[in-house]
Formats: sequence, structure tokens, C-alpha cells
Amino acid sequence: MVSKQENAILTGVGAGTPMGELMRRYWIPAAMSSEVEADGSPLRLMLLGERLVAFRDSNGEVGILDHHCPHRNASLFFGRNEQGGLRCLYHGWKFGVDGQCLDMANVPPHQDFKSKIKAKSYRTIERNGLIWTYMGQDEPPALPSIEATMVPASKVTFNWMQRECNWLQVLEGDLDTSHTDFLHGGARTVQSFAPDDPRRFGAANRAPEYEIEESEWGTMYGAFRPADPGETYWRVAHFMFPFWTITPSGPFGRHLYARAWVPMDDTHTMAMRIIGNAGKVAPGGSGIVTGLDDLMPNTTDWYGRFRPNTNAENDYLIDREVQRTKTFSGIPGIAAEDQAVTESMDAITDRSTEHLAPSDRMIAITRRRLLEAAEAIAQGAKAPGRDGSIYAGARGGYFIAPNGGSLTDAYRDAFGKTAPMNLALT
Ligand code: FES
Ligand SMILES: [Fe+2]
Repeated sequence: MVSKQENAILTGVGAGTPMGELMRRYWIPAAMSSEVEADGSPLRLMLLGERLVAFRDSNGEVGILDHHCPHRNASLFFGRNEQGGLRCLYHGWKFGVDGQCLDMANVPPHQDFKSKIKAKSYRTIERNGLIWTYMGQDEPPALPSIEATMVPASKVTFNWMQRECNWLQVLEGDLDTSHTDFLHGGARTVQSFAPDDPRRFGAANRAPEYEIEESEWGTMYGAFRPADPGETYWRVAHFMFPFWTITPSGPFGRHLYARAWVPMDDTHTMAMRIIGNAGKVAPGGSGIVTGLDDLMPNTTDWYGRFRPNTNAENDYLIDREVQRTKTFSGIPGIAAEDQAVTESMDAITDRSTEHLAPSDRMIAITRRRLLEAAEAIAQGAKAPGRDGSIYAGARGGYFIAPNGGSLTDAYRDAFGKTAPMNLALT
């Protein structure tokens, strides 16, 4: 439980809010490279409560600008993307990817002051199929070396889906492994899994214990339960500043996977799944679920990208007969199940009315770290995890280890034995 005041701090992402300022200290995945073509249509982009346009110029460079033209505020979304810049439809002013005004077409040359005009713009970098932007005013750090984002674009799969609620309540679903064997797997039994699939231990015991540690990049948990005699079944996951998770949903070492819960505004979130080794997992051996992309066609609306067909209006297509006889939820698919429960908590859930259990310790500790980091920023201190290279130390997944070791021991050991980057690249 947190107070109403702390809840407001955790959930507000606009410019000038404590959490909004914290998030503006990190590179943010904004769009897929494939969403903007050279000299193609500009893309409406809602990020941290700001209305932006993204476009790719004739040289292939990507610009992200405030959507209001600095002349008299017409939307640059309607602009012409032509020959090295975006030209506003209203009076023909043209802007480069850095926001610099390149042409003031309605002003005689001797009255021209284009060198003094810059549209509000944010830095961009592209890497492996993702467009990243930095929305802070200070010097940005290096891009985070999150393993799944280091995989070449030709090997990576993106599954994105919009959620109509605040970023933190959807992120917290990833820090809560115990829901997996209810919401997603409540009807599964030990016999649902192959005899050598470690997930059978989750079906046998739906109430794991947890170890939680603070890490350089955020927080980490290991949920543990008995496996075969002398062994423990671990599920390890991470929260990484400011809005990343790696869930334990695949076999450790074969699970190149990350999720960014990117706030569009306080009540809309772009859930980005980045899968670095799709197709490389053994049949039945992975928690990666395909076929989640039951999405409406994209529109150009501010909220028009990657909307699922399941939504509050159609009760997420819950089928009560299926719920009674086949699955625990009756809702079609893991993504829709998560969507239904997290959106049903209200657009911004009131955490002051919760009753947290030991299974929620990871959530409680992560909230505290976020509050501390937001407070530190407000005091002028450095944001945690600004060194992009440390993220390479985070990997999630499930594995079996001998009894008796701590989370740190078990994690280090499992990490040392596996090389998922090589798996992805071969
Ligand atoms: S409003 Fe854009 S050029 Fe005038
Ligand atoms: Fe879930």
C-alpha cells in the first residue's frame, strides 16, 4: 500500500512531475523503425503526455518534433515530408530532423529569420529496428544494453499493444509471478507439461516464496519452490529503470526478452515486447506465446496504434462456458487476460486501498525505489541506472538449481552457464 500522495507521484508522467522528470533521464523506445519511411507520412506519437510527430527525412534520419509548428501552432502532422525536412501546410515553413527551421517560405528573403527558429525537438537514435528518443534537457547517457535490444533487427520480433490504463499497474503485473498459475494457467495441471518441463513445478505448487534484491539497474526477484529432491525451481525476473521488465516466462538462457511499459500519458501505455530469439525456442519449452497480435488496424489517431480487439466495451471477449470448462479465465489469450485485469483496476488504480501480501514484496520494493529515484532527481541527484552498460547484467527466466543457494548464487551460476546472444545470432 502507498499513500494517495505517493500514488500520484508514481503515476504522473507529464513534464514537471517527479516521475515524468525521472523518465526524461533515460532513452525511451518511441516507435519501430518500420513505422516511418524516408519522405513518408509523419507519425502521430504520444509520449509522456506530449503530442509529437515522428518523420524520416530524405537521408533516412528520424526527427521527433512537438506537433505544433513554432510559427502559429498548426499541427506538423499534416506537414509535407519533402526533400530533407517537414514543411508545415499552413505557411510553408520547413523544419529539419533537429527542429531547425530551414525555410521560411512566406517571408521575403530580407525579412527572413529562419536561423533563429527551432521547433521543439528531441534527440533520436536508431538501433536494431527501434527508434529511441531522449526527452530530457541534459546530456543523455548511452543507450541501455538490454540483451533483447542488442539483437539485430532481422532476428528480433516486436509485439506491441496499447493498454488503456496507467503504466505502473501494467508493469506491476510482470513483478508478480504468482498470478501466472491462476490468471493464465489456473486450469493447467502437472500433466499439462512434458515430464522434463520445469514449469510443472509451478502447476504443482501455486504459492511460491520469494527472494528480492536491489540491483544496479533496479530490482530483481527469484520466486522459488521445490523441484525434484535436492533441487529448487527458480523463476527470476527484473525491473529496470525507468519502465522495463524482463519476465521469467521462458527458459533462462534461451529467453532473450524484454518489455518496456512506455507511458503515452497517465492513462495510456504502449506495452512493447521485444523478443530476441523468436523461433529459436524448443517446442513446448518456452513461455513465449505467439498469436497475441489480435489487433485492430492502426489509425492515425493519437491513440490509434496497436489497439487490441479485446477491450472494456466487449468485456475482453470473456466466454463463461470456456471459463467453466476449459481455462481459468475464459478470456482468449495471455495478453488479453493481463489487459482485462489491469485495465479493470481503473485507469489509474488507487493503491491506498490495497492489501499487499508477501507475494507482492517485489512490487512494494520497486515502488519504493521509484519514489526514492524521483525524490533524488527533484533534489538534483543523478538518476539510478544511467550507465547503459549495466543493463547487460539482467536476464530473466526459469531454471533448476541445487537446494540451499541464495538468489544471488543461483542467478550468478545460471548467468555464467548460458550465452543467449550466441543462440540468437547463430
Ligand atoms: S503555422 Fe506552420 S508555417 Fe505557419
Ligand atoms: Fe500475466
